[in-house]
Amino acid sequence: MIKIAPSLLAADFGKMSEEVGRAEAAGVDMLHIDVMDGHFVPNITFGPDMVRAIRKTTKLFLDVHLMISDPLKYAPVFAQAGSDLITFHIEAEKDPEKTIKNIRSLGVKCGVSINPPTSFDKIENIIDKVDLVLFMSVNPGFGGQKFITSVLDKVKAAKKIKDKNNLETELEIDGGITLETATSAVKAGINIVVAGTSIFGTPDIVSTVRQFRAALQKYET
Ligand code: DX5
Ligand code: ZN
Repeated sequence: MIKIAPSLLAADFGKMSEEVGRAEAAGVDMLHIDVMDGHFVPNITFGPDMVRAIRKTTKLFLDVHLMISDPLKYAPVFAQAGSDLITFHIEAEKDPEKTIKNIRSLGVKCGVSINPPTSFDKIENIIDKVDLVLFMSVNPGFGGQKFITSVLDKVKAAKKIKDKNNLETELEIDGGITLETATSAVKAGINIVVAGTSIFGTPDIVSTVRQFRAALQKYET
């Protein structure tokens, strides 16, 4: 099943609980929470207290994307705050297998993310060790950027490995997602689409999510 994960980065921060409710009412599959530290990326967003506050308002699966320099140091507080899945960046860790083990030992699922300029071989051997691979289709830091199409080559390569080895690893894409780019991504093998601007930026999320589902469901495998 194709899953839709709106990114709260594009929500109205002054009305966070209402925005979470708006997404929930639209029937989204999970919430994507972008954590930025002003160091790994040139922007600062939320800390664990925001995750805790969101956890109190919803039962939705919380997909926490850590765009931070020292993910292992902070993963415990994000797990304790109520994350269901924690994704770290391959560019931020020297020993990804140790990071995966440590994050899993916190009782949460573990994802690994790869930036557009980073080559596929950095994650090739750990696809079978994580619950999810998050392909960045913009350089992380800000919402509303343009989708980088060449990233789909990495998605296709990962999908091949996934199919060949019968893996359940989820393949997620994040950045510049519209109905059109989501369709190309799903065709390449993606099963979770993260969308910020194109969901929270529309007045009627219910109909936007419906449109995404209608466009994507025909490519479900
Ligand atoms: C980018 C973040 C994304 C961002 C996507 O650094 O990781 O999750 O919110 O926003 P849009 O969908 O507006 O490109
Ligand atoms: Zn993200």
